[in-house]
Amino acid sequence: MAEVTAVVKDRRSAMKFQPEVRISNEELDELFNLVKFAPSAFNLQHTRYLVVTDPELKEKVYEAANQQYKVKTASAVIVVLGDLDAYKQVGEINQGLLQLGVINKQEYDMTVESVLGFYEEGGDTFKREEAIRNSSLSAMLFMLVAKDKGWDTCPMIGFNPESLKEALQLPDRLVPTMLITLGKEDTSRQRPRGYRKPVAEFVSYNTL
Ligand SMILES: Cc1cc2nc3c(=O)[nH]c(=O)nc-3n(C[C@H](O)[C@H](O)[C@H](O)COP(=O)(O)O)c2cc1C
Repeated sequence: MAEVTAVVKDRRSAMKFQPEVRISNEELDELFNLVKFAPSAFNLQHTRYLVVTDPELKEKVYEAANQQYKVKTASAVIVVLGDLDAYKQVGEINQGLLQLGVINKQEYDMTVESVLGFYEEGGDTFKREEAIRNSSLSAMLFMLVAKDKGWDTCPMIGFNPESLKEALQLPDRLVPTMLITLGKEDTSRQRPRGYRKPVAEFVSYNTL
C-alpha cells in the first residue's frame, strides 16, 4: 500500500526528457503486461495502444502534436486509442469462461445479447464515450505502472486528431484518446507541482 502512495505522489507530468534514453519493446511489454489488468466495462478491454519509437514516425507525431518539444525527446510516444467496436468482441472475450464452466451456455448467450443490445441502443455517442472512458482509465494505469518501473510520462491532449489519424493511418473505429510521452525526465526544467484544490472543494458527501 505504501508503494502505491509513493507512486501516486511521485508521478509528475514530465516537461522534457533525456533525449538519448531508449526503451526496448521488452520493457514496454512488461508495462503492458500490468496495464492489461485495468478494469473495463463488461471486461470489453476497449483500449488499443500504438507505440511510436521509429524516428520518422515520431517526427510526424511531433507535427500533429503542435510541435511539442517533449515528443521529440521522448523515448516512446504512446498513442492511446479507444475502440468504438470493442463490444463486438463480447462473445470471444467470454468464450473462456464458458469453456471452463464458470458460466453456462444460457448465461453466455444472455451476456452476449445484452452487451450487444446495450451498445447498439446507446448509439454513436455512447460508443464514443465508452471508448474514451475506458481507455482513459487504462492510460492512467499505464502512467502509474511506468512510474513504478522508473519511467516518466506526460499525458497529452495537445494534438490534431485528423493529422494524427492521417500520419498513423488510424482506422475510423479507433478514437485517439490521448498521447502519452514516455522517457526519463530531464529534471533541470521541472517546476513545483501545480496547485491542487483542497478535498472539500471537489468532494461532497451525500449532497452537492
Ligand atoms: C487529458 C490530459 C491532457 C494533457 N495534455 C497536455 C499537453 O498536451 N501538453 C502538456 O505539456 N501537458 C499536458 N497535460 C499535463 C497536465 O498539464 C498536468 O497533468 C497537470 O498540469 C498536473 O500536473 P502533474 O501531472 O505534474 O501533476 C495533460 C494532462 C491530461 C490529464
